[in-house]
Amino acid sequence: MVHNLYLRFKSLLPKALRSQLSSINQALFARKNLQRKYGAWFDVDWRKHYATMSNDEWIRAYDQAWHFHHNDCVDETDATMILTALGEPGSVLEVGRGAGRPSVSMAQAGFRVTAADVSHEALEIARTTAKQAGIEIDFHHTFAEELPFADQSFDYITCCHTLEHVRDLQATVTHLKRIARKRIVVLVPRQEFRMYMSNYHTQFFSTPDDMIRAMNMQHYDCRVVTTIDRDSEYQGDMILFIGHCN
Ligand SMILES: C[S@@+](CC[C@H](N)C(=O)[O-])C[C@H]1O[C@@H](n2cnc3c(N)ncnc32)[C@H](O)[C@@H]1O
Repeated sequence: MVHNLYLRFKSLLPKALRSQLSSINQALFARKNLQRKYGAWFDVDWRKHYATMSNDEWIRAYDQAWHFHHNDCVDETDATMILTALGEPGSVLEVGRGAGRPSVSMAQAGFRVTAADVSHEALEIARTTAKQAGIEIDFHHTFAEELPFADQSFDYITCCHTLEHVRDLQATVTHLKRIARKRIVVLVPRQEFRMYMSNYHTQFFSTPDDMIRAMNMQHYDCRVVTTIDRDSEYQGDMILFIGHCN
């Protein structure tokens, strides 16, 4: 509630003032505040060294993150928006499954769902959620940069609040475009780079054009969606990209 009021207040300020306040916060307070808020498991210097981490270190970091902080970014409204973006039921690969809701909504709507994530811990939570919901999901532990699926093997791919986490954006996008037959739906936060933030983001999309350039598809829809006051972890502007495969 207080955080939402703060977000609203901040959005009313001129951009130059917002960015000055943010620079002061980054320089003086942000690192210490994050350490205090999350404690030892949170890697406050993630953006300084993620590029040189091994795959095992990456997996361990996300396992720890899921162990200590349940991170559910997509609420019912977003899940419905994603379903609408997909179209007729078919096979769908959810990249960066986490523990979120889209898979459950998609399976309940008649899609055959396969879910991939790099965190064992997240997949374990997702397995339990699927079991409780009485739905079948095929789970895979894999990096988005190394998706082990054949060309055009899924009608759809969804990638929600995950593209901003990958180490290699180009490799990931290449796999998404290789594997999808009909449509790719991507949801990311609209964000400027900050060194100290309460997440492990590595890629930053501050305008729809950033996303359009990253996906580099001929046919697409792309727009900003606002999520302040939603029932989810992420509050703020998001970019929704729907890529139509040829
Ligand atoms: C913020 S969560 C989003 C989860 C879910 N899609 C949602 O919207 O609630 C990001 C997910 O990406 C996963 N992840 C991080 N790096 C990854 C990578 N390189 N390949 C695949 N998954 C990755 C994390 O384990 C985490 O589950």
